[in-house]
Amino acid sequence: MRYPIWRLCVFMATMVWPLLWLFEAWSSALGPDLGKVLVDRLGLGTLILLLLTLGMTPLQKLSGWAGWIAVRRQLGLWCFAYVVLHLAAYCAFILGFDWSQLGVELRKRPYIIVGALGFLGLLVLAVTSNRYSQRRLGVRWKKLHRLVYGILGLGLLHMLWIVRADLKEWVVYASIGALLLAVRIPPVARRIPRLIAKKATSATKT
Ligand code: HEM
Repeated sequence: MRYPIWRLCVFMATMVWPLLWLFEAWSSALGPDLGKVLVDRLGLGTLILLLLTLGMTPLQKLSGWAGWIAVRRQLGLWCFAYVVLHLAAYCAFILGFDWSQLGVELRKRPYIIVGALGFLGLLVLAVTSNRYSQRRLGVRWKKLHRLVYGILGLGLLHMLWIVRADLKEWVVYASIGALLLAVRIPPVARRIPRLIAKKATSATKT
């Protein structure tokens, strides 16, 4: 396995947040509405990890360092772990495991349907992220994993629906998402290696 220390650092850096929030919840540091705080933090964590996962390929292309790709799958799986915790916190603290309230909840918070579609997408990607599925699905695997762009759209729509009044934070995440999608458009992607080569030659001249 390549880059073991780097992989371990990424593992620790992503694992520490839910543990810290659980500790804060346990020590009553999250205020009276700790359920909502936990749901929000885990939801935002999911979105950030999704953006980070999508950022690994452009970073590798820009820097030429394979370490970014070495942690891409791990980040994707962490994104799924966070969304599972987000959903679990919602079921425990907001729904109170009262499934009879689910219909009322969906009418009151229709953005949950958008989130649930995103969750299903992440589930499909997590289940098929192993080498066995990659080998079995062949070229279809790459096509299937393009689902990630739709999931990002759903995640952003889900968040937009919630934060309607205060768009500042949403605009930051949406812009990063748009940039990460833009660098994948073939004419833009083709320019990136040329940009690096140009930068390298001008650096050797100075
Ligand atoms: C079944 C799946 C899901 C459910 C039930 C769910 C539910 C919720 C709920 C109840 C909230 C809090 C709303 C409030 O503050 O009033 C929330 C916030 C949020 N969720 Fe989800 N969600 C789901 C999936 C997702 C997915 C897939 C993503 C990202 C890809 C996501 C990202 C977010 C974000 C970014 C927030 C806002 C956090 C903030 O305001 O700081 N959620 N979600």
